[in-house]
Amino acid sequence: MRINDNVAARLEKLGAEVRSGVSLAEHTSLAIGGTTDQILLRRYESIPEIMRVLKSENIQHQFLGGGTNVLIADGELSFIVLHLPSSREPLRIEGNSVCVDAGADLGATVTYCAKHDLGGLEGLIGVPGSVGGALRMNAGAYGTQIGPHVREVELYRAASGEIETLRGNEIRFDYRHTSFAPDDLMLRVRLELPSKPYKEILAGIKVCNEKRRASQPLNQKSAGCIFKNPPGASAGRMIDELKLKGHRVADAMVSDRHANFFVNAGHATCVDMLKLIDDVRDRVHAAYGIELENEVIVWRN
Ligand code: EPU
Repeated sequence: MRINDNVAARLEKLGAEVRSGVSLAEHTSLAIGGTTDQILLRRYESIPEIMRVLKSENIQHQFLGGGTNVLIADGELSFIVLHLPSSREPLRIEGNSVCVDAGADLGATVTYCAKHDLGGLEGLIGVPGSVGGALRMNAGAYGTQIGPHVREVELYRAASGEIETLRGNEIRFDYRHTSFAPDDLMLRVRLELPSKPYKEILAGIKVCNEKRRASQPLNQKSAGCIFKNPPGASAGRMIDELKLKGHRVADAMVSDRHANFFVNAGHATCVDMLKLIDDVRDRVHAAYGIELENEVIVWRN
């Protein structure tokens, strides 16, 4: 979707940067996604006004974070994407409280906190993506989830059209799911982290990194796990038991390393990946009677 020059000029006056004809394949870890205009939201305080402009012009949009858990349609897209620039300021630390922009890289945040003797996030070290994305889906690994550390979130809420602050206890964090609305945009978060000596945190980080390297296809293009684990079961183990590692639809392939990672082994399209997802879901259902739920977020045209 292309924004006309008149609207682009209005958005730029509000401090946004409009990039025309961006290939989202270059902004996602799966390297899949069509083309559209991208708006970089450089000034938080003007976001409500920017959203009013988009609404009045009937321009559909999606918020793109780190692009590490999303499968985007091919071709010219029917929506634009809004994006927060990586991070405008370093983290602000006061005692055990850490204030971080949602656009910050999650791994860099974990490391920065560690260097200030603040732990608790070790398990998240290899989880790719932004702090905002991790927050939205309550990212977790190796026994750590971000949710329990959240004390405050500043966000743009489409429902009110305003920037609001929610306290941690006003947000529900479940397994790979939160009570944020799909059109809420995380802006900043305040975390409360336990004090821990850097060396101890580093040792924890090392263990998680090793476990991850041993079981996950880190050097292949993926969106992490495709399916959520059903209660009491492992999607990866079931897919593996069905001997589906290496199974493919064109260049969309079940990883031969971890069966719940689907990788782009060349020039996979969104259509290929969706066919593979449906095929594997059907086979798991036929064999185990379990309907796997997507963890990856799909943006259709
Ligand atoms: N397994 C197999 N074959 C496979 C993959 C796994 O038999 O191909 C078995 C393993 O041997 C193990 C069990 O399944 O006994 C669980 O596997 P693993 O420890 O790899 O964990 P997982 O449940 O597959 C979850 C998260 C990961 C997270 C790891 C580590 C989900 C959907 N996945 O994977 O998160 O990194 O635990 O904590 O919850 C993600 O969400 O994108 C993700 C990668």
